[in-house]
Amino acid sequence: MHDLAAFQTALLSWFGAVSAAFPWRESPSPYRVWLSEMMLQQTQVTTVIPYFTRFLERYPNVQALAAAPLDEVLKAWEGLGYYTRARNLHRAAQMISTQHGGNFPQTVEALQTLPGVGRYTASAVASIAFGMRTAALDGNVIRVLSRLYDVVEDVSLPATQKRLWGLAEGLIKDSTRPGDHNQAMMELGREVCKPRKPDCLKCPVQSFCQAFQQGTQAARPVKALKPPTPHYHMAAGVITNEQGQVLIAQRPLEGLLGGLWEFPAGRCEGSEPPESCLERTFRQRLGIRVEELHHLLQVKHAFTHFRITVQVFEGRLAGGSLNPQDYPACQWVSWDQIGRFAFGKVDRKVIDHWQTRGNRLW
Ligand code: ADE
Repeated sequence: MHDLAAFQTALLSWFGAVSAAFPWRESPSPYRVWLSEMMLQQTQVTTVIPYFTRFLERYPNVQALAAAPLDEVLKAWEGLGYYTRARNLHRAAQMISTQHGGNFPQTVEALQTLPGVGRYTASAVASIAFGMRTAALDGNVIRVLSRLYDVVEDVSLPATQKRLWGLAEGLIKDSTRPGDHNQAMMELGREVCKPRKPDCLKCPVQSFCQAFQQGTQAARPVKALKPPTPHYHMAAGVITNEQGQVLIAQRPLEGLLGGLWEFPAGRCEGSEPPESCLERTFRQRLGIRVEELHHLLQVKHAFTHFRITVQVFEGRLAGGSLNPQDYPACQWVSWDQIGRFAFGKVDRKVIDHWQTRGNRLW
């Protein structure tokens, strides 16, 4: 950067004029900053705001979060997605309480020993809450840097990542407001230096941007083409017993949607019809037989690395004894208790559908 001080000044005065009053920017304690950064990963600011406010009301400090049962934390996170973040958050709060005397670690390296805290989150907390000069590189900032420096290499390559971290550290050098600097870079990426149509005419650092000078901004960042995402067909069952209770099962704690509850479901093998898949799933995974299956609805959902189309059936328990195989827990619950459990998006659509149509069994 030919004139670093001028770049920093232009960035910060723009940020001072446009920065939104997000709730985590008020009294940025390490707890508030860490919580907001965990929530903001892969998630839009407008989605995060109400969750952040509710979460803080319920868990005003790290000790309160550490003392809460995981199920309750997952319930408070329900709908935000990427549930590993909630489990990591809970484990990290417990570590801070028991191993750090209730105080956040004070260096980027020590912060990274917490579950779910990588270099980005550690640097965001260290710069915003502690005023340390350390760069935070997220997807938005990578895009900004790839244009500022007209980076022609694939940004997903480790060597390019290393270069980008170096460039980011170079830009924050000697900054008098490192927390604002990092937040300004993120906000610039989100609001101005956008993926498809960058608003170069509104950009406060346009005169520093090599891609703008070369006219290459639309071609940055360079990213390798991703292979197409696989698409799986699944069947799920809302199965009722003689008492009118419905069977829900808890997903294994590790892995996708870990610890959340669901209507038992399985992936259709080859061209297996969904009804057969469902009968097999209940037999193999839960030890019970089901009957009177009626199609309820179809739900489509995209995860990060694959897509699913789920055929959801309702039906009745026909026999067998409940013996879950790869579900850590399962439970018959009445419909008025179901709101106490945390479910993923697909299952919440099923619950909404069921409740709006009045809980009738065909
Ligand atoms: N994205 C993630 N964290 C942010 C922050 N603190 N400010 C602006 N954008 C962000």
